[in-house]
Amino acid sequence: MQTEKEVTILAIESSCDETAASVVVNGRTVLSNEISSQIDIHTLYGGVVPEIASRKHTERINQVVRTALQTAGRTLDDMDAIAVTCGPGLVGALLIGVSAAKGIAFGTGKPLIGVHHIEGHISANFIADPSLEPPFLCLVVSGGHTHLVLVKDYGEYQILGRTRDDAAGEAFDKVARAIGLGYPGGPKIDKEAKKGNPHAIEFPRGRVAGSEYDFTFSGIKSAVLNYLNQKDMKGEHIVVPDVAASFQQAVVDVLVGHSMEAVENLRREGMTIRKFAIAGGVASNSALRSQMEEACAEHGLAFCCPPPILCTDNAAMIGCAAYYEYRRGRRSGYDLNAMPNLKLGESVYER
Ligand code: KG4
Ligand code: ZN
Repeated sequence: MQTEKEVTILAIESSCDETAASVVVNGRTVLSNEISSQIDIHTLYGGVVPEIASRKHTERINQVVRTALQTAGRTLDDMDAIAVTCGPGLVGALLIGVSAAKGIAFGTGKPLIGVHHIEGHISANFIADPSLEPPFLCLVVSGGHTHLVLVKDYGEYQILGRTRDDAAGEAFDKVARAIGLGYPGGPKIDKEAKKGNPHAIEFPRGRVAGSEYDFTFSGIKSAVLNYLNQKDMKGEHIVVPDVAASFQQAVVDVLVGHSMEAVENLRREGMTIRKFAIAGGVASNSALRSQMEEACAEHGLAFCCPPPILCTDNAAMIGCAAYYEYRRGRRSGYDLNAMPNLKLGESVYER
């Protein structure tokens, strides 16, 4: 039997505050996953400063790419394609990765493959579970996005629901700041919540009227801020772990509740749903992982979640997504641009 030729891809990710490069073989085998985080610098300002992010990407990108190749034991000559996140994200940050990838692709004459950042996050599941194949439902929860996506096939997505206001990670970051935990909020709330009572304070579980799969988190966030103000005015002590745990529980209840409702509704409509995956930075939240896993077991669903390092921004997930686009014959032009508002499913390919 003839074996298919291996496809090796160098992938670059720079859409927010991580400068990342990775070498991935056949979409599923990660030879290197280099991530240079800028968290220390942005922590000084309480959040990501776009201008600083761009500058740091510029300083670090070449070294990160070099290290990714070295760790993988490969050279540019060994690459079949160069992949890069081209949107959505911070325009200045995206531009650094896109320019680097274009330079390498043009200089070596290799094909260039632009990748949608969310497609990357979803694809991290293919690395986590080598046997995972579409179709499946995926909850994408990151700092900028909250999407419930039906993954119909490789590269084929239907967005069932999305947030109408804050993304889940954004709510974590804002609440963390308000209770004095600082940036980045998600991991800090996760840690603090372990010491608190998730039922100490009843925060609202927001719903979007008439739109069963959409999410809203601004109500939960405002309820926390009101609670803190009232406590402050009365001069009462705030039990930070209880606020963190109760807020986290409210968000997790909404995410798990909506997801399982969608599964039940789609099944009622006759669709076969057997697998459920989570993706994005918030998917590394310990309460979400364990409670979603339980809910999936109750609903007879196989549950997939990437390890935390593949949930937050990385380039391995971009290399994986690019492999499936490569196999479909998709290629971006050397005029590929950074697209800060790129929609999932919008083509970035000339063929
Ligand atoms: O996917 P990601 O690295 O970047 C974006 O594409 O936005 O996600 C970053 C977000 C941040 O809002 C961060 O606070 C959140 O993911 N996050 C978490 C956890 N780790 C990261 N949120 C809750 N619990 C965590 N353990
Ligand atoms: Zn991301």
